[in-house]
Amino acid sequence: MYIGLDIGTSGVKALLVGEDFAPVGQAHAALTVSRPHHGWSEQDPESWITACEAAMDELAKAHPDAMARLSGIGLSGQMHGATLLDADDRPLRPAILWNDGRSGTECAELEEMADFRGIGGNIVMAGFTAPKLRWVEKHEPEIFAKVAKVLLPKDFVRLWLTGDYASDMSDAAGTLWLDVKARKWSPELLAATNLTEAQMPRLVEGSESSGTLRPALAERWGTPEAAVAGGGGDNAATACGMGITAPGTGFLSLGTSGVLFAATDRFAPNTEEAVHAFCHAVPGVWHQMGVILSAVDSLTWLGEITGRSGPELTGLLPSKLGGPSGALFLPYLSGERTPHNAPDASGSLLNLRRDQGLPDLVHAVLDGVAFAFGDCVRALEAAGTNIDAAYAVGGGAQSRQWLEIMAAVTGLRLLIPAAGDFGAAFGAARLGAMAAGAGDAETVLTPPPVQKEIAPDPELRDAYRSAYERFRAAYPPKG
Ligand code: XUL
Repeated sequence: MYIGLDIGTSGVKALLVGEDFAPVGQAHAALTVSRPHHGWSEQDPESWITACEAAMDELAKAHPDAMARLSGIGLSGQMHGATLLDADDRPLRPAILWNDGRSGTECAELEEMADFRGIGGNIVMAGFTAPKLRWVEKHEPEIFAKVAKVLLPKDFVRLWLTGDYASDMSDAAGTLWLDVKARKWSPELLAATNLTEAQMPRLVEGSESSGTLRPALAERWGTPEAAVAGGGGDNAATACGMGITAPGTGFLSLGTSGVLFAATDRFAPNTEEAVHAFCHAVPGVWHQMGVILSAVDSLTWLGEITGRSGPELTGLLPSKLGGPSGALFLPYLSGERTPHNAPDASGSLLNLRRDQGLPDLVHAVLDGVAFAFGDCVRALEAAGTNIDAAYAVGGGAQSRQWLEIMAAVTGLRLLIPAAGDFGAAFGAARLGAMAAGAGDAETVLTPPPVQKEIAPDPELRDAYRSAYERFRAAYPPKG
C-alpha cells in the first residue's frame, strides 16, 4: 500500500493506493489563502499540518487493514512557497506562496547579483523562493536574522512526518538556489540572498527515500514506519502520475493557473521567454514548463462579476465554435510568467462592440487563455522542445469547447486520460512506491490509457491564426 499526500493551495489530498496502484481510498481537507495586501498571497504553515493530519486520520479510520500494510508515502505540493523556520523549527511568519507578486523589485536586484539564469536556469521571477527571501531581508530584517531553515511547503510537512530536513530536486529547482544542471545547491546563488547551505534541507531524488515515518505517527495511524520518498513539486509529481518522464508527450494543465509541461533528457533553459527549466522528480531527467498565472481563474473572475459558475458560463456557448470571438481577452489578471515575466501586467478586454454580449466575453476568455498556451508552446519550441501531444488535465479540461480551441491554437493533439486519478497525489504515491522498492521509473511510471483524443481541426486552426497574431500584437499595450 502506498500513500500520495499532495499539499495544494486550496487543499490537501491524501490518496491511498494498492500494490497495483488502484485507488483504495482518499481524503481531503481544505486550506485558505490570505491576501493581506494587493499582490500578496500567504498561508499558515501549521494549517498544512492540521489539514494533513485530518486527511491521514480519515484514511486511517476508513481503511485500517490497508494502512497496516503501508510501505511508502510520497509527497507533492504547491511549489516555491517560502516557509521560514527558527532554530526550534517554528514558522517565523506565514509562508509566502507561489502566486505572491510582492518581490518584483527584489527580482531585478538579484539578477544583477549572481548568474541566476545560467546556474539556476531561470529568470528570477516573483513567484520563486529566492526573491521572497530578499524581500524579507529588506522589509522584515528581524525575521530574516532568525531564519535557521528555509523549506518548501511539502518539505515542512515532511519535517513533521519524519523529523528530517529534506527536499527533492524538482521542488528545490523552483527555489532558484539550485545548480539545476548539477542537481546540487549553488553556494553562489545562496550567497546572493545572504543564505548558506546550512539553511537548506538535504537534497534527494524524488523517487529516493528521504526518511521514515516517525514512530508516534505510525502508531497513531496504525501503519508500519513507512519510507517517505523525496516526492516532487506538484507539476513534476503530476507528470510522474502520467508517465511523462521522457521527451515527446507533455501535459497541459487547465487549473487556476495553467501549465504546459515537457520532460527533457538534459538541462535546457530558455530564459528569454520565461520558460521554467527545472529538474524532474526522477534521476537524470529535467523538465521545462510554460506557466500562465490565470487560466481557469480568468473564467472564475468573469463568473464572479456576472454571478455565474464556470460551467454556466461555458454553457452559454454553442457546442461547436466556428472561430474566434470578435472580442479579444488578455488573461494577465494576476500578471504573467511565460512568456512575458511581468508580475504587474494586467488583463485587457479589447475590440468590444455594441452587439456583443456575455457569450462573446466568455468566448473571448476561453480564446485568450488558449492564446496564452499558444505562447507557451512557442516558448518551449524556442528552447528546443517539440511536443505534438499533451494530456489535458485540470478542471478546465472538462469543457470540450475549450479543448477544441486549445488544440486549434496550440496545434497539439490533446489526450484525455481514461477515467481515473492521475494527478499530483497519484504521482506522489508512485514515487512513494519507488522509494519503498516497488520498481523503477520504467515499470512504475507508466502512461494512463487514453480515453479520447482531440486533434487540431484544420478549419478552426486557420480561423484562429490571425486572431492569435492580434493577441500577440496587443501586448505590451501601446501608450
Ligand atoms: C509552478 C507554479 C505552480 C504551483 C501551483 O511554477 O508556480 O504550478 O506549483 O501549485
